[in-house]
Amino acid sequence: MVMPAFNFAKVPPIYFGAGKLKLLPKILRQLKGSNILLVTGAHSLQSSGKLPQIETMLRTVGIEVHPVICNGEPTTSMIDRTCAEYRKASIDGVVAIGGGSVVDAGKALSAMLPHNNSLFDHLEGVGLGIPHSGVKTPFIAIPTTSGTGGEVTKNAVISEVGPLGYKKSLRHENLIPDVVIVDGELLTSCPRHVTAACGMDAFTQLLEPYLSPTASPLTDAIAWSGLEAIKNNLLLACGEGANDIAVREGMAYASLMSGITLANAGLGIVHGLASPIGGFFPIPHGVVCGTLVAASVRANVQALWARTPESPSLDKLARLGGLLSEQSYSNKEEACKALVKVLDNWTEVLKLPLLREYGVQQSDLDRILDKTANRNNPIELSRDEIRALVEERL
Ligand SMILES: [Fe+2]
Repeated sequence: MVMPAFNFAKVPPIYFGAGKLKLLPKILRQLKGSNILLVTGAHSLQSSGKLPQIETMLRTVGIEVHPVICNGEPTTSMIDRTCAEYRKASIDGVVAIGGGSVVDAGKALSAMLPHNNSLFDHLEGVGLGIPHSGVKTPFIAIPTTSGTGGEVTKNAVISEVGPLGYKKSLRHENLIPDVVIVDGELLTSCPRHVTAACGMDAFTQLLEPYLSPTASPLTDAIAWSGLEAIKNNLLLACGEGANDIAVREGMAYASLMSGITLANAGLGIVHGLASPIGGFFPIPHGVVCGTLVAASVRANVQALWARTPESPSLDKLARLGGLLSEQSYSNKEEACKALVKVLDNWTEVLKLPLLREYGVQQSDLDRILDKTANRNNPIELSRDEIRALVEERL
């Protein structure tokens, strides 16, 4: 086999395992953080009683903590407002403990605190397009849901929802968090529907880099180990294993691997659609990905068989069909069918909502398709093929 050329981005130090949160004060000291923003979501850490414990743990060792609540996906105005409030407060560290939105909010705050301008200036595709300088406040990411993989990526996704809405990235290599802590004890409070949507997002972020034309043997190996973790834990995490730390850590591992693979091999048509749909409608990212992934795999399999039946992507899809269905197939076509069948079953069992439940209508498809990119899809799908796969989930 000819070894393909590839790049591989920096991966931060990762502390993974139950109880690892207690390392936070020591890690902050190493980063010289003693006056920090502690970014969390609006509810679950507070209601579980963990947030006061964390604040006490930090204050006991002399770390000054300024709580910041991120309610929903971070917006340009939320980041600008918070930076204006704290810019003169000598903040020397940002810690984000929460879901993907909280991690993105922390990442954007750490990026914008040392600067006086608006985040909008740096957003790709909608702002002035000024590259971020990479100068930031040290940032620690502590994910409590298992989905976006944002704890290991260099971009923060910022949304404004509405007719002129967008979902765009602030991006720089230096924005990769300085340290990641994944503590299984923080993961069990994630509700079932969020676990399902985030888990399907993590699955999609492993599948799409695995099939990407820019995949390398390195990203393939990482993606495969994440896909195995999804197979072993996704349904359990959404059911009888919801309170099992080992199951939750399996999903957190998959999410972590998904972040590494997407950062290095890119994403396909599901994420190409998730960007405009999430910009136009108030629909969580994991729900868009989760609800579209089975239909997208079906469309990709059909297009690959019809146009490039020798594509190595079909071999990969067949291999994944064997893994997820726990059967071995000598026939590639049968294995691909088995894959689609498993994904259709997940869509049903996990009760992934239809897009119309969030207000998406047939008449919206043209403006969605106008802004949809094929990105690193294994095959260029036509506008009609993409339209048909979205219609399956309207
Ligand atoms: Fe995603």
